[in-house]
Amino acid sequence: MPSSEDVRAEPAAAPWWRSAVLYQVYPRSFADSDGDGVGDLRGITGRLDHLVDLGVDAVWLSPFYASPMVDFGYDITDHCAVDPVFGTLADVDALVAAAHARGLRVLVDVVPNHTSDRHPWFAESRSSRDSGRRDWYVWADPGPGGGPPNNWLSAFAASGPAWTLDGRTGQYYLHSYTAAQPDLNWQNAAVREAVHDVLRFWLERGVDGFRVDAAHRLVKDPTLADNPADVAHLRTALVPGGTRLRHIDQPGVHEVLREVRAVVGPDTLLLGEIGVADPTRWAAYYGSGDELVPLNPTFWSRPCTTDALRSAVDTTEAVLPPGGWPVYALGNHDLSRLATRCGSARARLAAVLLLTLRGTPLVYYGDELGMTDVPVPPEAARDPDGRDPARTPMQWDASPGAGFTTGRPWLPIPPTAGTVNVAAERADPGSLLNLYRALIRLRRRSPALRTGDYRPLPPTDPGLYAYWRQAGDQRILVALNATGRSRTVAPPGTSTGRLLLSTDPDRPLGECPDPLVLAADEAVVVESDR
Ligand code: GLC
Repeated sequence: MPSSEDVRAEPAAAPWWRSAVLYQVYPRSFADSDGDGVGDLRGITGRLDHLVDLGVDAVWLSPFYASPMVDFGYDITDHCAVDPVFGTLADVDALVAAAHARGLRVLVDVVPNHTSDRHPWFAESRSSRDSGRRDWYVWADPGPGGGPPNNWLSAFAASGPAWTLDGRTGQYYLHSYTAAQPDLNWQNAAVREAVHDVLRFWLERGVDGFRVDAAHRLVKDPTLADNPADVAHLRTALVPGGTRLRHIDQPGVHEVLREVRAVVGPDTLLLGEIGVADPTRWAAYYGSGDELVPLNPTFWSRPCTTDALRSAVDTTEAVLPPGGWPVYALGNHDLSRLATRCGSARARLAAVLLLTLRGTPLVYYGDELGMTDVPVPPEAARDPDGRDPARTPMQWDASPGAGFTTGRPWLPIPPTAGTVNVAAERADPGSLLNLYRALIRLRRRSPALRTGDYRPLPPTDPGLYAYWRQAGDQRILVALNATGRSRTVAPPGTSTGRLLLSTDPDRPLGECPDPLVLAADEAVVVESDR
């Protein structure tokens, strides 16, 4: 596919995504072309120019496959079919073609850990203990007393244990998420082959990569032994702690991921959802460049303080394998919105961080506007795990449906959409949207920001986080003041050069004041002249 001039300027050996900015679209909530209140593929195609205007290089689409929507598309009944609510396969083809025509690459979500309980594979598997597909899922006899086979928990509190009894065959099946999402058995070669076929199907349709859902959960301890008592209460591996859960992040997962890599080849981006807090175990998912590119979860659970941001980055840099390249995101469809977690001033500062780090940035739709969590009353709640507030419709303009739909939106549109929207922010030079646009353009123009190395300044002032990015003779200083008070960037002389950008729209750009004093919650980008 065509790539932008800047991307072409990179050395031929660097994969395209290293110098790219990625953007996540949650298809139900981006743009509704047919007025049913739910976003769809044609809607996304009709709004691709926003991505071009923003300056991103690739879009990741959360699932649009055939699904009963218990987990809104992460419960799939046919991995190679489009759910009618989103459109048709022809609509996918048109979207991919329209994206490629604009120089945008397309990543689709692949969900290898589980299917819907209504998937024909599971229907066959549960039909009898002798079914030819029984072993495609994880079945086990009841534990002592008739309860679940062991103490493993599902990821969702509302779903309770990770096991549900199938009354007809008298065994329990494993589900890492809701009971409507039985886990596939990746120890079974036929399962692995079936998922490989799904990857081939989408590659043949022209997609440029995949986001691999729950990749750290594919392999379970085959003995099905209990989780150790000290971690038995944990539902995910996102809580720091040394003891490994027996149904998450098992050593055998790396072998099956290497097989997946071999199927798609070295140039396809495999963005892995790796919900593992232990940094070394998380980094193991790079393999030796022959597994995934793990999405970095370090920002997701941290406050927006200087120390927390710095330690998230420095921890990542410290554990990366040789040649490993980070991919950072500040938000996604499973988390509270960035602007809600950090507040609006720090959301601006976080944008500077995300788009100036050494690593590929991934922007969650609407975060470029400062969309916040939208309260969803209990009677309107849709998600089994309470994640609706961060999944509300994209706010395009100030019209009643926010330019998202002419119908009744599937989740509420907040009154703030009157001002927090693409049209209004595009017209306001000081808006968050225009800060994102400026940052992405700056990154695109700057070899130091795009591909340069990263060197943090020693933390002399606990309120400041500053780092150098350098490529060739271009040196860029980024300084963030995530405190409520002004701070001087130290040492004097550090900031001589040109001030390229500030989160404060009123600060004059050009020659950099020395010493450079940052206002409360201000972040700046300076091109050094020495
Ligand atoms: C991933 C997805 C999440 C989904 C879960 C089960 O964590 O991001 O939305 O509920 O997997 O597929």
